[in-house]
Amino acid sequence: MASFSTGASYARHARPEDVGAIWRIIDGYAQQGILLPRSHEEIADKIGSFHVVVRDGDLVGLAALRDFGAGIGELRSLSVDPDWHGYGFGELLIRAVVARARAIGIGELYVITASPGYFGRFGWAELPMDEVPAMLDADRAPERPRHLWNTAMVLRLADVPRRVDAPALEARVHLQVYARQPLTLVAGDGCWVTDDTGRRYLDMVAGIAVNVLGHASPVVADAVARQARRLVQVSNLYYTLPQLELADALVRRSPFDRAFFVNSGTEANEAALKLARRRGHARGAIEIVAAEGSFHGRTMGALAATGQPKYREPFEPLPAGFRHVPFNDVDALRAAVDERTAAVLLEPIQGESGIHPATDAFLTAAREACDAVGALLIFDEVQSGVGRTGTFFAFEQTPVVPDVVTLAKGLGGGVPIGAVLATESAAAFERGDHGTTLGGNPLACAAAIATLGALDEDRLLANARERGEELAMGLAAFVDDGLATEVRGSGLMLAMETAGPWAREAMAAARDHHGLLVNATGPTTLRFVPPLTIDRGEVRQALERLEPALRAAAAQGTAA
Ligand SMILES: Cc1ncc(COP(=O)(O)O)c(C=O)c1O
Repeated sequence: MASFSTGASYARHARPEDVGAIWRIIDGYAQQGILLPRSHEEIADKIGSFHVVVRDGDLVGLAALRDFGAGIGELRSLSVDPDWHGYGFGELLIRAVVARARAIGIGELYVITASPGYFGRFGWAELPMDEVPAMLDADRAPERPRHLWNTAMVLRLADVPRRVDAPALEARVHLQVYARQPLTLVAGDGCWVTDDTGRRYLDMVAGIAVNVLGHASPVVADAVARQARRLVQVSNLYYTLPQLELADALVRRSPFDRAFFVNSGTEANEAALKLARRRGHARGAIEIVAAEGSFHGRTMGALAATGQPKYREPFEPLPAGFRHVPFNDVDALRAAVDERTAAVLLEPIQGESGIHPATDAFLTAAREACDAVGALLIFDEVQSGVGRTGTFFAFEQTPVVPDVVTLAKGLGGGVPIGAVLATESAAAFERGDHGTTLGGNPLACAAAIATLGALDEDRLLANARERGEELAMGLAAFVDDGLATEVRGSGLMLAMETAGPWAREAMAAARDHHGLLVNATGPTTLRFVPPLTIDRGEVRQALERLEPALRAAAAQGTAA
């Protein structure tokens, strides 16, 4: 993370009357050649970096913001060292910098100062010095001992529009893999997110079934901040307490005996697949049976298990030994499982393909078939787990208990973490068989521990059931109205089939005209996976906002 300081103060002696005067002075200096072209070039070169420091009322710095601000892509914060207030210039400086920061969409301004009272009147909040980002700390004048800079002030401009053209930047610098919505989200709060123009949206997507505690949860934020100050990462060469505490918490609340932590859903499935192969290998049981329509992730093993050719085919050849049976086809499943089967891998509710619950008969057949040949039954609860369906695991609402379950999405409340949980008899790994550098690190585990605690304390599983029922009933009313044909799912993992192939148009109308984010998983399917903290009023609002979007999309779709 590069930082940038403009260096010398060119106009310490200046006493401009207003903000405009600052620019006139800068122009005057430029005309006199005091702002050297070389300096400008350097500024232009460096200002694309993360962070600009305007030190001691440095007019070169202000000029840089004025002249090159439009080209700043990554600037997030600006520190101002307003040494000049003693000259009556600080206020002007601050106003100028704030105006510029607003114009170019900077999120936060920091003042590091010995005079907090002075800046309080601009609405700056006092910040403990140890919360000043290290990059700003490093940029303070080295000749100033730390104790003189006894106060930091921060002004958050989070809702200020950014001038960054995110789609253009993404098109230029990011691998072109995502079909993104035309929305740049900059902040969140509970069930709401804010875009870079300050518009707020009721979020029924929640990071794709991730933010179980909502956005900017203080529980997660505090846990992460506390742990980040203590220990973030040391690898699995050593014991770390958050990892073991989390494993203990998961084992206690489940029928499983052991946990293993990774960083994502696909890695959790990868570990589960390796576990099954490891266990069956000696007796030649190496095949994995999975379901058509399933989604297990993008890494090679999880991809091989994924029952959707569109994801698999461009990457073939994939690891061998994977078979797919039609979802909920009991006979096909029974026929596919034999002594070569290492595991059957199933989502109890298929998520990515549009919230399709497995039937009890299918899951029971899988359990019986696995037991008959000694194969593992693995449930992928990456999406359905961690309370999303109103119970901690979705399988709790079925007659079947698997040998292994995978979790991810909701587990860290938004912080990346995945887990494999296994019964003792399934836990076939030996030392050295599998591992990860970052998986289960103290930071991610602290977030997960806090998330699990909040799920219990705030009765969020019950809330998921109750709000889920209200949402499902509201969606069912659209079926009665002829706007939809079906509602599926459980708890706050729901989908609705639109009456025609206009789910994407409904999603766009909801987003653009009604401040509502929903996710279209296909031409006729809308998915609803909001934070588990959603309240009754927000459910009602979601339905109220969705209705006109559905009507508009239906009118447009029918006319076309
Ligand atoms: C059931 C299921 N398994 C696995 C994955 C992959 O998880 P990740 O994207 O964290 O790798 C997903 C993601 O949508 C999922 O829904």
